[in-house]
Amino acid sequence: MGVSRVRKNGTDSGLDSNRSVASSTPGLAGTGHGDARGRVDNGNRRREGSAGYKTGFVEGEYQDAGIRGLCCVFGRRGSGKTTRAKWLVRGARRIVVFDPMACCSDLKFQIVSQPGALRKILAGAGKKGVIHVVYQPKGGDLVEHWEHVAWMCIAAANLILMCDEVDSICSSGSAKDSNSDYWKKFKRKPALDHIVNFGRHAPVAFLGISRAPQDVWRRLRGQSERMLVFSMDDDLEMDALRSRLGRQVEQLPGLGKYQYLDWRDDGSVSIEGGKL
Ligand SMILES: Nc1ncnc2c1ncn2[C@@H]1O[C@H](COP(=O)(O)OP(=O)(O)OP(=O)(O)O)[C@@H](O)[C@H]1O
Ligand SMILES: [Mg+2]
Repeated sequence: MGVSRVRKNGTDSGLDSNRSVASSTPGLAGTGHGDARGRVDNGNRRREGSAGYKTGFVEGEYQDAGIRGLCCVFGRRGSGKTTRAKWLVRGARRIVVFDPMACCSDLKFQIVSQPGALRKILAGAGKKGVIHVVYQPKGGDLVEHWEHVAWMCIAAANLILMCDEVDSICSSGSAKDSNSDYWKKFKRKPALDHIVNFGRHAPVAFLGISRAPQDVWRRLRGQSERMLVFSMDDDLEMDALRSRLGRQVEQLPGLGKYQYLDWRDDGSVSIEGGKL
């Protein structure tokens, strides 16, 4: 599937009719792209050796930087989710960050806010070129932005798609946001559905971030092979994770500042993180 198949509908005309967006956060120490691969500088990295990462199709999933297949980052607000996610992907070769709250400008990637601009970058990079893009919608329907971005990424392939505030583009029972007007107008398959079920074949890796696991599509939670979960003590949020993490959820209320439970579906779990 070539980039030429990237959808063009409505892309250049702009989707900014009626949304506003928060301003971006300033710099992120220690996450410059230059030190991205293989620097073990603060004990935060585990199992991700100084030789760097393999990039490509690894053990049946697309991998780049610290991300392989489907991953989620959960935690209370301000717990450090976005910061840690940026830290994990900072060495990625091909990545698109969907950044509705404009919190990822400090990645120093190219920032775009319209599907047409993203389409040009993806087409220019082809199947092998470097892609470093942060997509920050400035207005319009958030779900419409997401659907354009995500389907273009699926078509481009061989990249990480990171989605901050993933609960704003889906619901607990569906890959669609149930409140979105977009789904009243369009009958197409949601991009998140395709990513969770078939992203492995694109191949695309996905990193979703949310403070409310109970509001995130349960199939995404159910299929994720890795979850980074920061401190939380709300029973409903913890219950949403119990079917995957089991008794490990009991550790969540006791996690320290910026610490997270690094859970993988191979049965390994450890407490990681801390101040960057
Ligand atoms: N590991 C860390 N070390 C030092 N400072 C951190 C760390 N993680 C986050 N911070 C700081 O804490 C603040 C909140 O971080 P961040 O925005 O990543 O939280 P969040 O969980 O994504 O919040 P939200 O729920 O609002 O999206 C930021 O100012 C960030 O710089
Ligand atoms: Mg955040």
